[in-house]
Amino acid sequence: MRTQVGIVGAGPAGLFLAHLLTREDIDCVVLEARSRAYVEERVRAGVLEQGTVDLMHDLGVGERLTRECMVDHALDIRFAGGLIHLDLPALSNGKFVTIYGQQEVVKDLIAARLAAGGPILFEAEAVGLDGLTTNRPAIRYRQDGKEATLTCDVVAGCDGFHGVCRPAIPHNALTVYDRIFPFGWLGILSESPPIREMTYVNHDRGFALCSRRSPYISRLYLQCTPDEDLGAWPDARIWDELHVRIGDADRSELTEGRILQKGVTPVRSFVAAPMRYGRLYLAGDSSHIVPPTGAKGLNLAAADVRVLARALGEFFRTGATERLERYSDTCLRRVWKVVRYSTYMTSLLHRFASHSPFERQVQLAELEYIAGSRAAATIIAENYIGLPFEDD
Ligand code: FAD
Ligand code: PHB
Repeated sequence: MRTQVGIVGAGPAGLFLAHLLTREDIDCVVLEARSRAYVEERVRAGVLEQGTVDLMHDLGVGERLTRECMVDHALDIRFAGGLIHLDLPALSNGKFVTIYGQQEVVKDLIAARLAAGGPILFEAEAVGLDGLTTNRPAIRYRQDGKEATLTCDVVAGCDGFHGVCRPAIPHNALTVYDRIFPFGWLGILSESPPIREMTYVNHDRGFALCSRRSPYISRLYLQCTPDEDLGAWPDARIWDELHVRIGDADRSELTEGRILQKGVTPVRSFVAAPMRYGRLYLAGDSSHIVPPTGAKGLNLAAADVRVLARALGEFFRTGATERLERYSDTCLRRVWKVVRYSTYMTSLLHRFASHSPFERQVQLAELEYIAGSRAAATIIAENYIGLPFEDD
């Protein structure tokens, strides 16, 4: 098989890219290791920046999002009896964020692509990349027990953190920046109405987050150990801990519901640079992951592929490579700002076992400061709603 752009991975990065390239009349094939049902049910992100929402609309896949999304105008941070209430539009010239599950974004992108006859090969696992420094790179993949080859002009590595594309780059061609935090997040999806605002909590017993997916579904998280045993967390213990950390002593604020999903997520920052090797371009989690505290991973993946699609459009139309050569630098400028913000929020909101009493007091003083400073609150709000796109 042969195509112009071989895309490895049908997560947000690969699917957005496929739509963007099709709009530029560039032929592409998406290879996805998992089944369609698996990728459509994987519970992950939920906070969309306006740029990501605009991208859905530009691509003509925003209709269900408009009907079903929730619009979030505020973000609360609770700490040691204090409250930071960020009125997002007031702090950011009328802007806000949109709540719509990543798996809903993925479902909409898959449905629209298949309806338009665009190929996505499910249960087709890339097993190796060849000829990356030639003009005819190829992806070897396995489907139905057989190995096949997809020959391309360009390979887009959109296969997430555990994929095969980044490891196909020689070690000495990549610089890796990594920070693993000494905790994880235990996340649940619950069939119960969310509390009033999106609420982050810094509590003596650890961080908690009350998010939402719809007026009937809550998404809730607790700071835990990185290798937390879910078996030690029967439903009742999760609810008890959530009530305590959010300060809901009489259990009247947080409604308990049937738990639909439970999982543990690591908290980590990772950047591999540059995001290119020969004819391979990395996008999304395959090249960088950010701690979930910033709610930015999906949005960064969308931001990368906007830049990549534009550069590939120019390349296939005119043969010009300048934009492609700038791709990695353009993306990494945004990536590092988002790493900065996500690291800041992680440090601000979690309990660190290594913190001395002095460091704990400084953390609480920072929260008090933000509560009383419009300037400090604006810094969080403008990052949370999404930094403007640079014109590359
Ligand atoms: P992925 O979604 O990981 O997609 C990669 C795809 O490649 C997968 O479908 C995988 O099956 C496939 N693949 C892997 N290897 C191969 C192979 N060899 N061959 C073929 N296919 C392969 N981000 C936000 O913006 N906002 C949030 O609120 C937020 N919350 C989060 C909460 C949690 C609990 C987690 C875990 C993440 C959260 N994120 C959030 C991050 C976000 O989910 C990721 O950044 C996002 O999924 C990245 O998209 P991607 O397409 O780059 O990678
Ligand atoms: C989510 O809704 O899953 C969510 C919200 C905010 C975050 C991370 C995850 O910071």
